[in-house]
Amino acid sequence: MSLNKFAEDYAASGISRLHMPGHKGCKIHGLEPLDLTEIKGADSLFESEGVIAQGERRTAEIFGARTTCWSAEGSSLCIKAALGLAARHFGRRMTVAAPRNCHRAFISACVLLDIDVKWIFPESGSARLCECGAAPEAVEKALAGGGVDAVYITSPDYLGGISDIGGISRVCKKHGALLICDNAHGAYLKFVGEGMHPLDLGADIVCESAHKTLPVYTGGAYLHIAKNAPADFDELAKPAMVLFGSTSPSYLIMGSLDRCTDLLEGDLPEMLRACCERTARTKKLLAERGISDISREAMKITIDAVKIGYTGVQLAEMMRRSKMECEYADAEVVVLMLSPYNPERDFERIERFFSGLELREPLAIPCPPEPLRPEKVMSLRQAELSRAERIDVEKAEGRVCARSAMSCQPSVAAVMGGEKISAEAIKILKRYSILQIDVL
Ligand SMILES: Cc1ncc(COP(=O)(O)O)c(C=O)c1O
Repeated sequence: MSLNKFAEDYAASGISRLHMPGHKGCKIHGLEPLDLTEIKGADSLFESEGVIAQGERRTAEIFGARTTCWSAEGSSLCIKAALGLAARHFGRRMTVAAPRNCHRAFISACVLLDIDVKWIFPESGSARLCECGAAPEAVEKALAGGGVDAVYITSPDYLGGISDIGGISRVCKKHGALLICDNAHGAYLKFVGEGMHPLDLGADIVCESAHKTLPVYTGGAYLHIAKNAPADFDELAKPAMVLFGSTSPSYLIMGSLDRCTDLLEGDLPEMLRACCERTARTKKLLAERGISDISREAMKITIDAVKIGYTGVQLAEMMRRSKMECEYADAEVVVLMLSPYNPERDFERIERFFSGLELREPLAIPCPPEPLRPEKVMSLRQAELSRAERIDVEKAEGRVCARSAMSCQPSVAAVMGGEKISAEAIKILKRYSILQIDVL
């Protein structure tokens, strides 16, 4: 029996619910009849052996993982669990090499697990502030000196940048380092072409938000263990999830993960491929108008607004007035995320909007996008757990950052905890409207 069948039968049974949650299955918000807790027959997420385990096995099979754990708390939980399981595997304080474009969940994991991070900085100035993926050569350099246990790569990134996971994985194998991939934005990649998903490109652990690109309730995510990962990873995965997860996972979210597998076994892969083709037509139309899309992802469009004379925020506001709400906008870009569940109307709105848009002279970017290489004074954990004070960013030059100042691209930090704040960093922080910062 599947998780959803169990929930439906339970809802229809008329049984007295003498257990959590307090809504008792009454339709107050709408979906309560199917919202269960870990009662007999409903299995238990972190000790799964029944309907949840069966759902997880189906997910693993369709993604080609050796083991998959469901998460009802997003990739944020999967990322912390991935690092937690790696830490237990090594049984000592880990050193992880990572580019700076990591999500805040990675920073939290480093603080909680006292991971030493060897940052991989971009070689040269990038077109965008804080855009900083890593090429295999940069990973090779980071690993050449030894002492790195794992490499942590975010790909695709928030703006649709994609790293060479295959190349990076070969470098990791050569140096005996694990490869952990934040594929939060790329669950759909498994279904739209050969060799695009990190599991097929040599990653050992992959964290991905089913909810970002697949039809799953917000919070539904997967922690995948690759077939070639070290043998103890499977048994270490659930205990690592326990370390960080809630003891009350949402059955509505898990039910949607299970339903998504049904869809992926049906015609959803075909629908995903059709969406990529439809998005490609829109991308082509934008290109013909000279509108630059910097996304390398097939279901994401990232407009370089500055190049056509607008800020990203201005464009997003104009699109809002034309009945379109974007995923993200900042001073430079607007990010549009598409899926098979966007009707044709939505693609037509995008095309009509950009066909009619007055193209202007590029805006001058006031802050030079030079890569920052802040001086590290102490570990992320030491800094986070030290006494700190909040001061104006203007006055922060030379002080040590207590905790990563976020939101320079959602959740990508310009300065990490334990690093000295330079005049250049202050410029970037101000550019992203971060006007106060916690310093030691
Ligand atoms: C690159 C990246 N990684 C991880 C996450 C966290 O994912 P979730 O919201 O599923 O916890 C996000 C969220 O936006 C993200 O953009």
